[in-house]
Amino acid sequence: MSPALQRLQRDTGLNPAWLWVEQGRELWQGASAGPSCASCHGPIEGMRRAAATHPRWHVGLGRPVTLMDQVRVCSTKRQGTTDGDVQRILSLTAALVAAADGVRIEPDPHPSMQPWATQGQALWHQRMGQLNLSCAQCHDQRAGQRLGGTRIPQGHDTGYPLYRMEWQTLGPLQRRLRGCMTGIRAEPFAPDADEWMALMVYMQRRSAGLPLEAGAVRP
Ligand code: HEC
Ligand code: HEC
Repeated sequence: MSPALQRLQRDTGLNPAWLWVEQGRELWQGASAGPSCASCHGPIEGMRRAAATHPRWHVGLGRPVTLMDQVRVCSTKRQGTTDGDVQRILSLTAALVAAADGVRIEPDPHPSMQPWATQGQALWHQRMGQLNLSCAQCHDQRAGQRLGGTRIPQGHDTGYPLYRMEWQTLGPLQRRLRGCMTGIRAEPFAPDADEWMALMVYMQRRSAGLPLEAGAVRP
């Protein structure tokens, strides 16, 4: 990122992502509906590993869950909130990522994650869209090069949900991935398709060992 944007990310007084982080911290404590998150989990500062270890196998659901999925499960099933409040889920998730600032990504070794990772790896290398490009061709082979005005990043999930200048708001990883797919003129997967999860499980393994970023910002 440009030095100016890196400075903005570090300045917690100016960085817009912190509006969501602070909102999430209040929601964690508060009991607007049902028991608070803190009443079961304790202070959010203690949730150091949650963001670093998702997606993770969820025994009850029999499938992997992202951190956002887990927050949604607890919010709706344990707190009794309605499912529609996306900003609430985003804020809580951003606060959990901030609590894990600097913690290294630790993929879930559960054997049931393997088929998802394998499918995700195949998708990562599969050419798609009218431009007939794969994720790997940009993010493995051309990382650091320029594409139009932007530098191609390595494509790691170290801070989602994050604030994107282009969106003028905070958004989840899936929105970013959808943007890359439409960028190569590919039809994005259906909103709840398993392909998203497979890609995210593979990407988590690819990013293993990288530290998480609190209040991440992108161009
Ligand atoms: C009534 C108790 C209860 C409440 C209230 C609750 N949770 Fe949970 N939470 C659980 C249990 C039990 C699990 C274990 C996974 C599961 O069964 O879904 C869990 C798992 C989690 C995890 C993964 C923890 C880890 O070890 O990495 C996160 C993150 C989380 N909850 C967030 C929240 C948030 C955010 C709220 C408030 C909206 C909340 N929880 C409210 C019981 C609760
Ligand atoms: C044509 C090249 C290209 C292809 C193909 C492509 N991307 Fe991207 N991707 C980019 C660029 C450029 C950005 C940065 C955009 C920006 O910051 O404005 C980006 C950003 C990302 C990011 C955000 C990284 C961060 O630090 O926030 C992720 C994650 C990502 N891509 C994943 C994928 C996945 C998964 C695929 C395959 C489905 C894919 N990309 C395909 C060019 C590409």
